[in-house]
Amino acid sequence: MSDNVTWQAYQKSPSVVLSDLPPLSLWLTGLSGSGKSSLAQALYTELITVKRHIIILDGDNIRHGLCKDLGFSADDRSENIRRVAEVAKLFNETGITVICAFISPFQSDRLLAKQIIGNAYKEIYIKCSLAECQKRDPKGLYKKVDAGLIRNFTGIDSPYETPTTPDIVVDTEQLSIEEAIQLISIELLGKS
Ligand code: ADX
Repeated sequence: MSDNVTWQAYQKSPSVVLSDLPPLSLWLTGLSGSGKSSLAQALYTELITVKRHIIILDGDNIRHGLCKDLGFSADDRSENIRRVAEVAKLFNETGITVICAFISPFQSDRLLAKQIIGNAYKEIYIKCSLAECQKRDPKGLYKKVDAGLIRNFTGIDSPYETPTTPDIVVDTEQLSIEEAIQLISIELLGKS
């Protein structure tokens, strides 16, 4: 941070809060192809129906804009997650629930996101074996990795650190999308 910058403390009025429900940052972490984006979409649809104000922040999309200057080194991934966590916190402050779908492979980065966001942070580990992700290969990226066209790919030559204390584990090899949404609704959103 630069010198000579001072935090301006603004008074917050409850009237700016859009929803009666406490805003959350639902943090979906998992390998490429594990099902984060599909679940983010399904969660969005579910939350809209219960009148939550909601936005999806998605790894690929954010890398088209806010984080277009970042690559896939460990440092760049950390900066990616830090920026997104700050953005999620800002949305939460206005009452908007955020669905964050990022590989976020490093425990230390997820911890930082949790520290930035606070109690609204809910970690959802999207569990899926590498073999199954490679089989699904929805974007053809694992094929490119095999062909030597992509390096530093998570799960192959860049690590994925399995979450040790997630709020919830969603195993996409065992559960359908509907079952996964039901599980998240019961565990994190307080509804069945
Ligand atoms: S993160 O590691 O910094 O959290 P992020 O979720 O933003 O990653 O972006 C991951 C997406 O970028 C993947 O879904 C995939 O489509 C694409 N991608 C391109 N190169 C890589 C790579 N080397 N490792 C992982 N994902 C990659």
